[in-house]
Amino acid sequence: MSAHIPILAGKRIVLGVTGSIACYKAVDLASKLTQAGAAVDVILSNAAGRFVTPLTFQAVTGRAVYTDLWGATGDDSGGLPTHIAHVGLGESADIYAIIPATANTLSKLAHGASDDLISITALSAPCPLIVAPAMDGSMYDHPATQANIRTLTERGAYLIPPDTGRFASGMVGLGRLPETPTLIGHLRRVVGREGALQGRKVVVSAGGTREPLDPVRYIGNRSSGKQGHAIAQSAIDAGAREVILVTSSDLPTPVGVVRVPVERAEEMEAALVAHCADADLLVMVAAVADFRPSRYAERKIKKETDAPPVIELAANNDILLTLKAERGRHGFPRVVVGFAAESDDLLLHAADKRQRKGLDLLVANDITATDAGFSVDDNRVSILDAAGNVQALDLMSKAEVADQVIERASALLS
Ligand code: CTP
Repeated sequence: MSAHIPILAGKRIVLGVTGSIACYKAVDLASKLTQAGAAVDVILSNAAGRFVTPLTFQAVTGRAVYTDLWGATGDDSGGLPTHIAHVGLGESADIYAIIPATANTLSKLAHGASDDLISITALSAPCPLIVAPAMDGSMYDHPATQANIRTLTERGAYLIPPDTGRFASGMVGLGRLPETPTLIGHLRRVVGREGALQGRKVVVSAGGTREPLDPVRYIGNRSSGKQGHAIAQSAIDAGAREVILVTSSDLPTPVGVVRVPVERAEEMEAALVAHCADADLLVMVAAVADFRPSRYAERKIKKETDAPPVIELAANNDILLTLKAERGRHGFPRVVVGFAAESDDLLLHAADKRQRKGLDLLVANDITATDAGFSVDDNRVSILDAAGNVQALDLMSKAEVADQVIERASALLS
């Protein structure tokens, strides 16, 4: 995960930390959010203060930490008397995230208690409230806890569901606080939900397809899936209602994205045809094999009994051409973006591909570059549009390329 995250940069996040053993993970979260560019104001409950000191959070956020409703805590109340610091804290926040949230905290929030800074800020903050329950499995499963969670979500709170795993008690069950990248994924989703893709369905393809020869071997390519997975994350950051990621890559699925795993080009084509039938936007990043072995050996090819095989190839469909025909019939996807990997005459080939495949935008990259492209985290691309404009972007991270592509595609949709 790259440190800077544009969707979180400049955001003011109030992080309420309550007394679960998992509150040590909140230190890492506060640190990563700060590195992402957010201003993180931590409120520590009394119980959390027994696990982790205010100084720890202060050191990672570079900001004052709030612990006490009555004491002089924090220096960020904009000159407000300390007894109403909580109102200022909540009012100017973009989100209020209580991570981890104990059973006791959930109970207090559900009932509108206001006897400490954590609960009183929940009542006074007009921004979205996020809760991440973390407790032993039996406490999480208890009908009282479940009822409190239901009350909070019905009231509009965003729930970060707990993971299954081992607890401090040694028991195994549902109730563990997810790891930092997952927590950040949820926060991105909430911060971005009113973005330019609000209400839209986005389909993304990613990775290199694998065309099997026998049960162990395949013909593949060097695509890692990084750029495609970054596009899916950008679509979430832009508030898309639904993001379908048809992928052959093993990279993690961004929070909020529905993953459709595929291997072969034919599987990818079938999945894309199905999911694009009502999609607003398709971003076709996958490196699809143009050819597949015409025969598949049901048993592993053995060097002792089999002669060296001659691999005969058959052509795969061009998926974008299939989708162009579908779009001609029903009008979906409304906007289609393709990628082109070229090793020579980049812009000439790219312009031809954009035209032939009926693309609204084409993102072209030069695969001979050693500092960008396959497997690495950076990319240098040019974006071609239907009016013939070509925009050459500087070398940037794949996450930044993804944001640029999503921004331009969203503009075409509106
Ligand atoms: N593509 C596709 N179906 C294929 C091959 C490619 O839909 N069978 C899509 C890719 O996902 C990409 C675009 O077409 O969005 C361009 O892919 P690229 O590999 O650059 O081009 P090809 O059409 O395969 O042409 P060539 O290999 O001759 O450069």
